[in-house]
Amino acid sequence: MNLLASIRQRFLPALKDLVEDPAPLLDLVRPAQDARFGDFQANFAMPLAKQLGRNPRELAQQIVDSVDLGDFCEPLEVAGPGFINVRISTSHLETLLQQVAGDDRLGVVPVSSPRHFVVDFSSPNVAKPMHVGHLRSTVIGDALCRTLRFAGHKVTSDNHIGDWGTQFGMIIYGFRHFRDETSWQEEPVTELARLYRLVNQLSEYHATRSSLPELTRSLDAARTELEAATAEAEVADDADRKKLKKRVSAANKEVASGEAALHSAEAAIAAVENSAALSRQAADHPQIARLAREETARLHAGDEENLRFWNEFLPCCLEALQRVYDRLDVQFDLTLGESFYNPRLADVVDSLAEQGMAVLSDGAMCVFSPESNAPFIVRKSDGAFTYATTDLATVQYRRDELRADEVLYVVDKRQSGHFQQLFETSVRWGIGDLQFRHVSFGTVMGSNGRPYKTRSGDTVGLESLLDEAVSRARRIVDENDDRRETASLTDEQRARVAEIVGLGGIKYADLHHNRDSDYIFDWDKMLATTGDTATYMQYAYARVCGIFRKLELDRSDIDFSRIPVLLRTDEERRLGLQLLSFGYALDGVLAEYRPHLLTSWLFSTAETFSQFFDKCSVQKAESEELQKSRLVLCDLMARAIRTGLSLLGIDVTETM
Ligand code: ARG
Repeated sequence: MNLLASIRQRFLPALKDLVEDPAPLLDLVRPAQDARFGDFQANFAMPLAKQLGRNPRELAQQIVDSVDLGDFCEPLEVAGPGFINVRISTSHLETLLQQVAGDDRLGVVPVSSPRHFVVDFSSPNVAKPMHVGHLRSTVIGDALCRTLRFAGHKVTSDNHIGDWGTQFGMIIYGFRHFRDETSWQEEPVTELARLYRLVNQLSEYHATRSSLPELTRSLDAARTELEAATAEAEVADDADRKKLKKRVSAANKEVASGEAALHSAEAAIAAVENSAALSRQAADHPQIARLAREETARLHAGDEENLRFWNEFLPCCLEALQRVYDRLDVQFDLTLGESFYNPRLADVVDSLAEQGMAVLSDGAMCVFSPESNAPFIVRKSDGAFTYATTDLATVQYRRDELRADEVLYVVDKRQSGHFQQLFETSVRWGIGDLQFRHVSFGTVMGSNGRPYKTRSGDTVGLESLLDEAVSRARRIVDENDDRRETASLTDEQRARVAEIVGLGGIKYADLHHNRDSDYIFDWDKMLATTGDTATYMQYAYARVCGIFRKLELDRSDIDFSRIPVLLRTDEERRLGLQLLSFGYALDGVLAEYRPHLLTSWLFSTAETFSQFFDKCSVQKAESEELQKSRLVLCDLMARAIRTGLSLLGIDVTETM
């Protein structure tokens, strides 16, 4: 049951008579924006008339005359320049709602030709603790997997972890020189994270110190330029003033960014020099960055000891990741990290070379493509393979071994250049019908408009972020429950609700933005009890459960599909129509892999429900039939919210 699809279907024959490809025109049949214009609107007559050189109103009328929708619509209406307004007959809506009331899938029919999707998401570089930047890929990717599966597709979720990169050289170096044996025995994960941070800090320290003269020099140059430009601007005549103003403002910017760079460099240096222990370590390890890189190179070359270290470290890293995934309720079918593809990389380069696609350039093997300026480097001049080589091997594996139809890469939009080159190269390499999609997303920002960081400038650890969400949610739950005459939740229940509300809040706040935009991380907004938040939906759900409790009815005992639905008021009719639109909300999500289209559907549903609930009393309904019918709508609404949220990986609770 998909009302929109049925209406489109009915328009199809008329359009087929007029054009070769009616699909884009049918796309212009949409839910109406304004109830005054009916429930749906067909907006294809205008572009079609243009194409055929005809009068749009006449054309619309001709189509209306030939279309048969009489069994479920009021007579069609042509309006304005040629819009066709479609109003579903209320009795048809009532019938459909009764059907959906007995359907677990809320009327959504599984796709007729399922495809096999590999969804590459989360994919952190391990050995570094997960941070806020990993939230987006994890949450968006999980929502897409759930929605694709619900739609009836086959999905393989694959966590393409970075488990073979330079960070391992860093912890190997740290392990050799700075290991604290007791904490390694007791808390290996924490110890490895500490070693990574330490080696990183010391390497950065040396790099920053040697960059200081250059930073100072360029700041001086910027200041000199600013002075010069300002002086010239003061004496300039009108003709030159505009140009000079621009120059002054550019110089100002240059000075500001130079000062910021210098300050942060000085802060990084001070952080080491203000600690006696760190200063000593820094002095004892002046070549730390190079030596850590050499550890990585030895690991890649198959050095026995480094491989042993790697084998010992990896399970700890995975365990730390798993803790986060368990908490977020995210599952992977596969975790095939970069190391898995290592044995295949030489063959990839050979194959590209054989086909004449990869050529030597300055000692590196590169694939050049007409579409992009930069070469796609598959083997560096020192012999090392790259991120690109690994991704090509991964493409091959997903096609040949996993037999995927389509791969989604849920990765930061800053990597779009890489993916464009990867897709182009793969196509030329001969990857057949395998489809690709970079599902890109923007950055999580702080209120200062810069990437979200802690006050001291560190990245925000993901686990502490989740903890904070839950503890903030706990405060809300406590306040809420304490306000009741008799507190109704036990301590254990409060903790459970806080977990559901806190994590739901974080996930929803991420998903309800169009994924390509950056968004500002805002605790208060994300846990607000009204507005477009998970908390609001969760409240709406709990409220409906409350209605049934008050009437002492157990929803699971009721066969809703046997109760006739009556849509007597506008509010009931609107809610009914909204509940029937779940299917096309999901179609929207999957058309371009945009989960925010599901959150907007949920928000509209909750709002439509709230209007219904204000106007149409369930307890004091005019008749028993009407009360029962309203209970059907309530149950449907609750299931819609629960199902919709579950596709986003968000849970609900019966009491809040
Ligand atoms: N590990 C990479 C990073 O943190 C992301 C990997 C995304 N997936 C891929 N197949 N390249 O940047």
